[in-house]
Order: sequence, then structure tokens, then C-alpha cells
Amino acid sequence: MESMGGMKRSHYCNDLRAANVGEEVILMGWVLRRRDHGGVIFIDLRDLHGLTQVVFNPEHSTAIHAKAHDLRSEWVLAVRGRVCLRPDGMANDKLTTGAIEVMVDELRILNTSPTPPFPLDEEKEEVSENLRLKYRYLDLRRPGMINNLIMRHKAAHAVRNYLNDNNFLEVETPVLTRSTPEGARDYLVSSRVNPGKFYALPQSPQLFKQLLMVSGVDRYYQVVKCFRDEDLRADRQPEFTQIDMELSFVDEEDIYTIAEGLMRMLFKATIGLEISTPLPRMTYAEAMERFGTDKPDTRFGLELVNLTETVRDCGFKVFASVVKKGGQVKSINAKGCAATLSRKNIDNLTEYIAQFGARGLAWVKVKEDSSWQSPIAKFFTEDEKAAMAAALQAAPGDILFFVADSPSVVHHALAELRLKLGRILDLIDDKAFELLWVTDFPLLEYNDGEKRYTAVHHPFTAPNEEDLEFLESEPGRVRSRAYDIVLNGTEIGGGSIRIHQKEIQNRAFAALGIAPEEAVDKFNFLLRALEMGAPPHGGIAFGLDRLMMILTGSESIRDVIAFPKTQKATCPLTEAPSAVARKQLTELHLRPDW
Ligand code: AMO
Ligand code: AMP
Repeated sequence: MESMGGMKRSHYCNDLRAANVGEEVILMGWVLRRRDHGGVIFIDLRDLHGLTQVVFNPEHSTAIHAKAHDLRSEWVLAVRGRVCLRPDGMANDKLTTGAIEVMVDELRILNTSPTPPFPLDEEKEEVSENLRLKYRYLDLRRPGMINNLIMRHKAAHAVRNYLNDNNFLEVETPVLTRSTPEGARDYLVSSRVNPGKFYALPQSPQLFKQLLMVSGVDRYYQVVKCFRDEDLRADRQPEFTQIDMELSFVDEEDIYTIAEGLMRMLFKATIGLEISTPLPRMTYAEAMERFGTDKPDTRFGLELVNLTETVRDCGFKVFASVVKKGGQVKSINAKGCAATLSRKNIDNLTEYIAQFGARGLAWVKVKEDSSWQSPIAKFFTEDEKAAMAAALQAAPGDILFFVADSPSVVHHALAELRLKLGRILDLIDDKAFELLWVTDFPLLEYNDGEKRYTAVHHPFTAPNEEDLEFLESEPGRVRSRAYDIVLNGTEIGGGSIRIHQKEIQNRAFAALGIAPEEAVDKFNFLLRALEMGAPPHGGIAFGLDRLMMILTGSESIRDVIAFPKTQKATCPLTEAPSAVARKQLTELHLRPDW
């Protein structure tokens, strides 16, 4: 192994073009591939920016050529040489540096490597994710992964620039703190100096950013880690990053304007796309009615059609009895897809939506003569069929799907069925980016398990003033001043105008069944601060990881995080979480019983 011997890198591996021919250059990087062509050795030298072909020709220098014989994948090199045009017919149009190669005059082997556990020039899909995560530092050498990190850096940079230019102050908030009210389980850290007491890692900086408004910070932001102990999915991590902000003396319109400006900058800086603003808005009620979800993917149709009234008195008992019990019947018309979907496909779809609570999936194929091919056709009169067909704008070749159940099951099942159909019928344009605001969420939702109302957003969200009078009498009816921002069917951000007066805060706690003593115990500091000249304020937080996942076209949120956790919240690289010495536990006043 050798030192750099005073060599200074002159270019990155993606810098050289035909215009550099004749220059002497020094490159440093890793051996991606080594090819031995009848005496001449070609190395693809790689760094984070790209590749350059470097050439060892025995006729040029036998000593260096002999040394190049030993080189293997992922060895670390410094080379000095001259930039040459590749010979006629040897240029590679697919490579930005494909017109040139570097004829090597000096080679230094800076480090060696055993054969990597997986090849670094193949698609990541071919390697198990556990192995990739165990050797994450190698996985990150792959261009796709490096590019994700570069794009994430560009996003964070654009965000900071934009917010700095708009008078925001970046303020850090504590990581060792008290439980925050985002509704997930907390990660707890025990206190050595305070026996029996625990810090919670923040689920978000929510309370601190509100306190900063009371301090007169006026506009706060932070690119900040949040921690939530919840069941993990493709778009969820136990620790993730928010672009978090809060503003004083604002209403919803101010927040929308700032957030839309931020999205414009971010899309431009990362994927070069000009998005048009203002973004479309949809109320929660409309989103549920048309898409069955509060995060609709508006890149394709297949909207839900409500047939509850149409089938109220129909002959099909399953539908009629559900309606009688206060349920709903809704339907999706997959236009022109009757021939595409076989019985087997339909059985699979039925099984798929069963996991969301649906007890069945009724279907109809509309034949050429407009008659119905369907196991349920016999239960309906001609008039009933005509009324349903009219509501669904059914035409020959269409396939109609129906779910009858409580509104929440109907919505959940059909929203998932819609997404599934969108994918299998190839209706979703991967290149499209559809952003929208979802507004007018309910303030509270009834939790059957806990037999009380819980906050849809969090307990500091302001109620819509028009609905305030119903807070005690009909809590379910009160709309909030919360909003979410949705991109391609994923919630990428959410926030609200907050309650800034103690009296309304106490009414909101009461509606949530939080007794005054409990409120004082948990949130005393916030309630006291609200009394001491809190300005009207509101904010929003974006999920940076989710945003990057969509902008980079990644399947998993883990592909845009340098060192992510697995679905089981472990890190195969560091093997965290790990066992600790009994002594450490004793110091923390913890007495394990395992
Ligand atoms: P909320 O809980 O909606 O709001 O979080 C804001 C955004 O953070 C992202 N997000 C996640 N990303 C990855 N993994 C997770 N486990 C995860 N959980 C949430 C989502 C979400 O839209 N304090 C409020 C914001 C406010 O009211 O200003 C809050 O945290 O993209
Ligand atoms: P059954 O009479 O139970 O055999 O059901 C006839 C058809 O109605 C089958 O295709 C079932 O999948 C469907 N079905 C049953 N229950 C429901 C429901 N709650 N919603 C929609 N379709 C249903």
C-alpha cells in the first residue's frame, strides 16, 4: 500500500470531456471494474460523481502495467495520466465521460479490499436488503444511492435558503424532553440522576415551536429528527426528519403561500420541475366521498360513486340491510376493464380487501348488450339495475365493484381497491406529481376502543370558529383549522392554526375527555405560556424522508436515509438495539426481570 505521495486530485471522475484531451490529470477513486483486453488493462475508476476509464498499456509503461495486473474491485487508487480521445468506434455514448480515457503514467494503490459481499455495479433489487444494510457503506457507493443522498442534500439546502430568505429563524429544540402529543408511542430514556424518571424523545417539536411563538420568535424553522415508536411500513421510520415550521400572526392562507413557495423551490432544486401554484384544495369530506381516504392519489380516476340511496330498497338483501343499519354502499367503475380482469383476479381482489374489513366484493361485468354478467344480477329488478348503471355511467365492457358496510370499512376497502386497480390496470403515470391540500378535517373522532373522542391532529389544533358552539353538544361535528398536503397519495405534510387562548384550550381538553388536573399535569407549561401573551399562530411540518422517497422514485423510505432501520426497527450495521451491561441498568435504577 502506498501514500498519496503529495498527489493532489485535479478532477472528479465525471469531469473530463473531449475538451480536456491532452491535459495531465490526477484522479482518485475506487476500482469498479477491471477488464484485461489482450494486454491492455482498462479500469473503470469511480467516485461519487461518476466514472472515468483509465488505461494501462504495456507499450506505454511495462512497470505500471504489471502493477495494474494486481488491481481488484473496490481497491482505492490515485492515478496520474493524460486525457486521450478513445480510438474510433470505442466511444461510449451512455457515459458522460465516454468520449475520453486517461492513459496512466503513475499509479498509487492507496488501499486494497477483499471481494465485496455483493457486486456494486448491479441493480440494488438483486441484493437482499439486510445484506445491503449490514454493509451500508458499500451500498451507498452505488450511484443510485449516492444520487439519493445528493438530491436530499439539495432539498435541505433549498429549504434552508428559502426559509432564511423569508425571515425564518432556525432554532434547535431539545431531544431529551417530555412526551409530546402526536399520538404514537414514545421512545423513553431513563434518567440516572432522577431515579424513576424518564425523558421522552420528541415525536415532533410541536410544543417547543409554540413556545417560541410566545417568545416572539415570529417565524421558526428546523430540519429536525422526530422519534415515534409505531408499526413500521414502507413510508415510516422510527426516527425520521421533519422540515418543521411555525409562524405568528397568520391564518391558513399565509401558511399555504409559504408552504407552496417552499414546494416550488424544492421541486425545482431537486428534479428541475416547475410546479404551478396555488395548489388545488379539497375538503376532508370531499376527499372521503370521492376517494375514500384523506390522502387521495389524484393521478388517476376510478372515483367512488355513492349508491346508498339508489339501493336503499333494492332486492339484494346484503345491500338493503347494510343501508338500513346506517351503512353505505359505494362502487367503482373500472371503465373498459371487464375483459382484462378474470374470475381469478376478482377473487384475489376480494381477498385483498378482506384485510381492510370488507366482508365481500360484489361485481358486475357489463356485456355488449348492456346486460349484466354477475353473481348478484338476479337480485335486482331492471329498474334498479338501470338506476345503478346510470349513477355509475356504466357502458358495455365496464366492470363495476361494490362494497356495502359501515362508512369507515367501505371507504378503507374501496380506497385500497382503487389503488390496487390503478396499479394492475396501469392507470398511474409514474412521471406525474400531483400535490394538493386537504382541508377542513374534523377536530375530533370517536374512538370506539377508548370510548371517547380523540384529536384527529393534536389537542392544540384550533376549532373552526363557525363550529365552536358545537364543541360540547356535538363534538363530532366540529371542523378544525388543520390541513394536510398530499403528494401522489402520500401525506407529506400536515399542520394547523393553533389554539392560542387558554379558555378555548381548556374546552378542547374537556371535549377530549382530558380532565383539568390531567391537562395541568401534562401540559402545564404550555397552558401557562398561553396565558402570558401568546400571539395567534400556526404551522406545518413536512416529512422530508417521504418527500425524497417520492422525488427520487424510491420504493422504500429506507433508500433515501443514509443509515435507516429495518421494518423491525433494527440496524443490521451497528446491530442496534443491543443488550447492555447489567451495571448500566442498575445505574439507571432499572431492575430487569429477564
Ligand atoms: P405529523 O404528525 O402530521 O405532524 O407529521 C408531519 C409529517 O411527518 C411525516 N411523518 C413521518 N415520516 C416518516 N416516518 C414516520 N414515522 C412519520 N410520521 C410522520 C409525514 C407527516 O405529514 N407537529 C405536527 C406538525 C404541525 O402541526 O405543525 C406533526 O408532527 O409526512
Ligand atoms: P352471497 O349472497 O353472500 O354469496 O354474496 C353474493 C355476492 O355479494 C358475492 O360476490 C359477495 O362477494 C358479495 N358480497 C357479500 N357481502 C358483501 C358486502 N358487504 N359488500 C359487497 N359485496 C358483498
